[in-house]
Amino acid sequence: MTSTTLQSVTAGSGNRSPKTVTITNPEDAARVLRDPRFSTAARAQGLFEKTPNGWTAYPYLSAFTKARLGLLDGEDHDQLRRTLAPVFSAVCINKLRPRIAAVVLQRLKHLQKRCAFDGLQDLAIPVSANLLCDLLNIPSDAWPRIEACIEDQSRFYIGDVGFETNEAVARKAETSASDFAAEFSTWGRGPIEDGRGALLRELQALGRYQSDRNQIELAGVCLNVITAGHWPMISAITAVLHVLLSSPDCQALQAAERISDPNLIDEALRCATPARTVGRIATCAARLGSEPIAAGDLTIVSLAALNADPVRFPNPDLLNPTRRHINHASFGLGMHYCLGARLARVILQEVIAGLCDLHPYLSLAADAQELPTTGGLCLVSRLPLVSERGTHGE
Ligand code: HEM
Repeated sequence: MTSTTLQSVTAGSGNRSPKTVTITNPEDAARVLRDPRFSTAARAQGLFEKTPNGWTAYPYLSAFTKARLGLLDGEDHDQLRRTLAPVFSAVCINKLRPRIAAVVLQRLKHLQKRCAFDGLQDLAIPVSANLLCDLLNIPSDAWPRIEACIEDQSRFYIGDVGFETNEAVARKAETSASDFAAEFSTWGRGPIEDGRGALLRELQALGRYQSDRNQIELAGVCLNVITAGHWPMISAITAVLHVLLSSPDCQALQAAERISDPNLIDEALRCATPARTVGRIATCAARLGSEPIAAGDLTIVSLAALNADPVRFPNPDLLNPTRRHINHASFGLGMHYCLGARLARVILQEVIAGLCDLHPYLSLAADAQELPTTGGLCLVSRLPLVSERGTHGE
């Protein structure tokens, strides 16, 4: 861990423009992520106001924004989080495990006879998309439309928000949100067979979503689950595999009997830190260490730095399969702690255990890239894998 707790990227003084501060120190990170005055909702504030007629001109987009946990603060956030929490509880997620294992296995079977494949395109991306479609009862032919919808939403929330552009971007995001809601209402009524749609059924069973009035919010919640889950899950599958296959202890998957040991998955998640940073906007003046923060400043918490703290994790750069009580920061900290963390762990356990079974002699190909160390998500552009000594059953 560096001794610098804060690193100003854009210094400011007097009538200064907002600056960006990166936080690597565990105490400051915990403070920022647990103090509601460091806001996540502020990131979306002003977006609607920049468009003519504000929120009212975009009923679907505003309903979807209010269904997006990662863009809510305070009571709005707590209420929605309390509503959704039971669906992501250990009891509910454990019920999903057999279905998750079946969907993962279906995908792995495509790779059974291959002695070389791409862990990103052939495994992580389809596993994540297939699982999200399956758990939410979305037909697979709808997936390209969902991806386009996610792009439209992202352009609105994080794109360039010049006035002219923003109106066109907001209109497009509104249309795709309303199309998503319309399609969602048909998937929601579709037949549920063999555990398909199990997560959707749990959400529909919540008291709040018994009412017709709240169906658009439910559509927004499901789109949020997809948006928040899809790319972090892809990043996690590839980065965890990369970390496990790079470690001398786990180079051949079968060498580690403990490969599906939840502790090992958590240790790999710590080393990989799939979501490297999270951001908050200060809503009031504050001081972090010796650094003054003004309202409007952006604070970026480096989860990767927290996971590499040598005080909490001796030899942090090494994957240590025997490490225990790994209280890592890969799923965040505080009130926005990842809602899907249990689901993500089960998916990772099933993917790693399934691979271990089908391809016990899997390794990284010689031309595999290093894991990126900067950026929001830790994502390789390809993960070439080879299964050198054949698969089970050959
Ligand atoms: C291993 C894969 C995943 C990683 C590394 C990850 C990481 C994170 C992190 C770091 C946050 C906190 C963001 C912040 O503080 O601003 C977060 C929030 C969230 N994640 Fe995940 N996530 C993963 C998988 C998933 C999945 C599969 C789902 C959905 C099923 C999901 C749903 C969410 C939601 C809804 C939030 C917002 C929670 C809130 O604001 O209260 N995540 N995730």
